[in-house]
Amino acid sequence: MKKATKLLALLLSAIMLTSVLTACGSDAAATEGQDTTQAVDTETDAAADTQADTAEGGTLTFGTNAEFPPFEFVSANGVIDQYDGIDMAIAKKIAEDNGMTAAIENMEFDSLLIALQNGQIDAVIAGMTVTDERLEAVDFSTPYYTATQVMIVKEDSDIAKAADMADKKICVVQGYTGEVCVQEMGYDYEAFKKGTEAVMELVNGKCDVVVIDSATAQKYVDDNEGLKIVEDPDAFESEEYAIAVQKGNTELLDKVNASIEAMLADGTISELGVQYTEETSAE
Ligand code: ARG
Repeated sequence: MKKATKLLALLLSAIMLTSVLTACGSDAAATEGQDTTQAVDTETDAAADTQADTAEGGTLTFGTNAEFPPFEFVSANGVIDQYDGIDMAIAKKIAEDNGMTAAIENMEFDSLLIALQNGQIDAVIAGMTVTDERLEAVDFSTPYYTATQVMIVKEDSDIAKAADMADKKICVVQGYTGEVCVQEMGYDYEAFKKGTEAVMELVNGKCDVVVIDSATAQKYVDDNEGLKIVEDPDAFESEEYAIAVQKGNTELLDKVNASIEAMLADGTISELGVQYTEETSAE
């Protein structure tokens, strides 16, 4: 039953792309990334760096941080090299739709936008939430997934809402929107490099709560005994994942958007959501 509920929730979140996007009260200009007909108003020549090989027959290099199941993780038989997950399947399809081959550069989450700005990668696909701050640095595609921050706690925890974290030891992942949320709430916290590290801290009783994205949280709860998810929609607003490209790279953005919109319309993305939540929680 738990699984059925979870699948339904994922399915719904993949479809419900009309919701307003903010990252926990950061007041993001939600609809910006959603309107594909909107002209990109900042034209820079920074985009020129990577445009050369993003033509038919070329390689489309996506940056990711493969520490975020079910969106990206390392696996024996990934869809792009050793990289597997919903985002990796989406990246592969975007490249294929444009007669290109997808390549992945795996790096720290914090380095992704810098690598994009430097032209080291063509695009970022990393379960990355559109936020006002990030919109200052890069352009985002049409959102393809709606998520929210949740709290992972021990099954016997008395944390029932975000405010209950006030006197607790909070763990987050460095650079994730979850860190921004906790920061904005004014709580002290400890930041880890990886979600698994934060969850191990919780499992070992060294912290009381991990704040992280919903689908990834579900994966950790499935994989570790004695944990549960606590939601607080009043405290954590919905977030939307989108693909980032260099500011002004409308050529690539148009291609990415065309693929994303087709995958949303024909149900590919909701199917991937179902497929990867089943697979990753099978063990
Ligand atoms: N959605 C969150 C954010 O944008 C977390 C994304 C983490 N993604 C990853 N591939 N590690 O900050």
